[in-house]
Amino acid sequence: MLTFILVSALLLTVEGQSNGGRQAARPAERPPGPRLLTTAGRYHAYRGESVKLPCAVSNLGRRSVFWLKGDNLQSRELVMQIHGIRRRPVAMRQFLQDVRSGKLSTEGTNLIINNLSAEDIGTYTCTVAWAGQSVTHVLEVTDTESAEKVVMEYFPPSKNTTVAEGSSVTFACRTPGFPQPSVTWYREGAEDQVLQMGPVLQLDEAWRQDAGRYVCATSGGAEQQGTTFTLHVQYVSVRAAEERIEVRTEDRRARLTCYVEGYPAPQVSWYRSTGQIAEGPKHRISAATGQYHLEIEQITPEDLGEYQCYVHNGVSRDLATVTLSAIPGQARVLEAKQTQHPKTYNVTWTVESVVPLRLYIMEYGKKGVPADHRNLTYIGVTTQPRGMTYVESGLLTLDPASTYEVRVRGVTQDNQQGPDMTQPFILSTGGGTSAKVARMLRTSLPILSRLPALARNILQ
Ligand SMILES: *[C@@H]1O[C@H](CO)[C@@H](O)[C@H](O)[C@H]1NC(C)=O
Ligand SMILES: *[C@@H]1O[C@H](CO)[C@@H](O)[C@H](O)[C@H]1NC(C)=O
Ligand SMILES: *[C@@H]1O[C@H](CO)[C@@H](O)[C@H](O)[C@H]1NC(C)=O
Ligand SMILES: *[C@@H]1O[C@H](CO)[C@@H](O)[C@H](O)[C@H]1NC(C)=O
Repeated sequence: MLTFILVSALLLTVEGQSNGGRQAARPAERPPGPRLLTTAGRYHAYRGESVKLPCAVSNLGRRSVFWLKGDNLQSRELVMQIHGIRRRPVAMRQFLQDVRSGKLSTEGTNLIINNLSAEDIGTYTCTVAWAGQSVTHVLEVTDTESAEKVVMEYFPPSKNTTVAEGSSVTFACRTPGFPQPSVTWYREGAEDQVLQMGPVLQLDEAWRQDAGRYVCATSGGAEQQGTTFTLHVQYVSVRAAEERIEVRTEDRRARLTCYVEGYPAPQVSWYRSTGQIAEGPKHRISAATGQYHLEIEQITPEDLGEYQCYVHNGVSRDLATVTLSAIPGQARVLEAKQTQHPKTYNVTWTVESVVPLRLYIMEYGKKGVPADHRNLTYIGVTTQPRGMTYVESGLLTLDPASTYEVRVRGVTQDNQQGPDMTQPFILSTGGGTSAKVARMLRTSLPILSRLPALARNILQ
């Protein structure tokens, strides 16, 4: 504690003495001498511009101001002398040419340097030949052509970014300098649409359509420069061309298609609930640009159901589902037999169907009756199919001596109806007078043909 007080006291004493000493060097009774008013400064200008380095002095009188160039006492060289009364600069030999060409000039005791170049960079000292007064300025000159290119900073330095879709992206582009150049962002090819002003471009959520090239352009003074960043967005997406495919029993084949997009290029595989589908005699897998196909041949009931088109590229994955169903084939009426009951006919038909049938719809009516006046009967499936072939019969009670049209359609478990028969089955019922005449003629014709030609002519 005692030591501290002693040291403080000592310091105060020293300070007081030094102040007193300086005051003592200035003779109070004489007229005031020159006084340097300017304080040291740091000056900045661009190549080709002019700069004024100040050196204001009061009461200069007959004395002179000297301008020197150089960073330290040893290397300083005298540039010129400016006399207090004449105020005309007197340049040293090596700077004579600069004064004549106008490169160097003065304004009072201030020094003006025109058409700045890198050679002008350095420290300039103004000295008054009185009491050792001087002020030293630092001059910086920026060469806009070379300097800015070197100091431009980027983020990321690779100027290349890859993100998963939905992630945020930051690009930055900065040109340190004075004055700070303005920065404009736009997409390459869309220079008229400014995305952002300022050194940072931020995309909160980058989507696939945001992938591409982004330009940051800086403009400071006359010079303009820029750089380009590349954004890659990783994604996959898949879409089924048709979400539901109905297999025709007649050809029992199907082609499933999915449309795929992604970056990086995705891999595509086909799946069923039983696992991945491999290429084979039944399954053919093919691809064109952005389209992937699975072709299935000789479809059986086991092949019906859901198929997945699964797409992945290491970063993301997606899938599309295609449901394979089938519609029964056209029914074919095999026969219609009259039963013991003369008005009742036993009709037998067959239907090919990949997909199991539940019932049949039989539509019948007299020939020429419009569709909405035909009778409908529903007949359940009673016999097991042989493979995919269904055979069934049903009874119809019909008017005698009439011509009927009969149509049959198969109906699946999920109420899918098969197509209409292209041609109806024509059923002509017996009985009535026309039938009796026909029967008589049929039996009499062979007898007639055995009669001699003359007898036939007479009869006709
Ligand atoms: C400016 O200085 C450059 C050299 O640094 C010179 O080539 C040019 O002619 C000068 N321009 C003028 C107008 O004096
Ligand atoms: C940019 O990055 C992607 C993947 O991240 C790479 O494939 C590509 O070659 C890079 N491009 C450049 C110019 O660095
Ligand atoms: C109808 O005909 C089919 C095939 O000829 C036969 O199996 C079925 O028993 C017959 N039904 C009746 C009710 O006669
Ligand atoms: C439809 O069925 C009803 C009842 O069995 C019958 O009276 C009618 O004549 C039938 N119509 C045709 C067009 O067969």
